[in-house]
Amino acid sequence: MIDRLDLEGIARQHGVIGRRPELRLLGACLITGRNVLLEGPVGVGKTALARAVATALARGFVRVDGDGRYTEAKLVGHFDPPGVLERGYQPDLFIPGPLVEAMQRGAVLFVNELNRMPEGVQNVLLPALDEGIVHIPHLGEVRAERGFCVVATQNPAEFVATGHLSEALLDRFELVKLGYQDATEECEIVRQDARTAPSDSIIAQAVAVARATRTDRVRRGASVRAAIAIADLAMALDGDVAAAARIALPTRIELTDPDQVGFDTVLADLEKKTLAQSPAPT
Ligand SMILES: Nc1ncnc2c1ncn2[C@@H]1O[C@H](COP(=O)(O)OP(=O)(O)OP(=O)(O)O)[C@@H](O)[C@H]1O
Ligand SMILES: [Mg+2]
Repeated sequence: MIDRLDLEGIARQHGVIGRRPELRLLGACLITGRNVLLEGPVGVGKTALARAVATALARGFVRVDGDGRYTEAKLVGHFDPPGVLERGYQPDLFIPGPLVEAMQRGAVLFVNELNRMPEGVQNVLLPALDEGIVHIPHLGEVRAERGFCVVATQNPAEFVATGHLSEALLDRFELVKLGYQDATEECEIVRQDARTAPSDSIIAQAVAVARATRTDRVRRGASVRAAIAIADLAMALDGDVAAAARIALPTRIELTDPDQVGFDTVLADLEKKTLAQSPAPT
């Protein structure tokens, strides 16, 4: 018997807007104990979806954020050094890292930006992904409880300046891709997540500006997170969406060729295209 996920129930309980196909695929992977690579640009809901499905399946959720300096010892765990000096390598002195914690709890290990992790860290995951086993020096073999699996994320290849995942690692993941949602769904997300109860008009303009950054001139466009910030700021700035965008966007977009077109030009164009036709209410 295979569990079936109640997609509408999950969406309602966790405030997931749209994304039914992706929820379904992610659910199928987690139900069958498969590891998932979630690929999509910043802010498309990778964390939110993974957390919703894990929770719906009554699995714990252990989160790790990848970076180039992350170590194997951090991922797996380590022995308490003063304790070891005193009593030697006793099992009770082992402090589990997120991998061992997730294995012991039968939880979902969520690894953000796995591709940024050093190769050594990625390699520690291989036996855990295969057979749910890690070998820890002085402790021995740790076996995963039922339910353990890994959900990792990576940004799409064209945005990835840093490392790529090895073939060996990729061979152990299913791939679920997340693109940007349509404007209507993005407006709903802004309405749900904004702190200031913005008007329809401000929400629509904030979403329009964020979406307009997703062009060739911009290497990394703004996510719905930017739209949420713009809507909130515009509310605090008497409906001045342009001023809100000018402080919300510089940190969130990256120009393809900054020498050719400056940031101010791009911003001015965005404002002209998206805000001119719909003046902010006063
Ligand atoms: N489909 C959705 N329904 C409801 N909220 C959403 C949806 N997609 C994104 N959000 C909201 O947008 C914000 C960004 O989502 P989230 O943090 O899950 O993105 P992410 O892909 O994990 O981003 P990052 O790449 O920065 O880690 C959150 O506030 C989240 O609640
Ligand atoms: Mg995330």
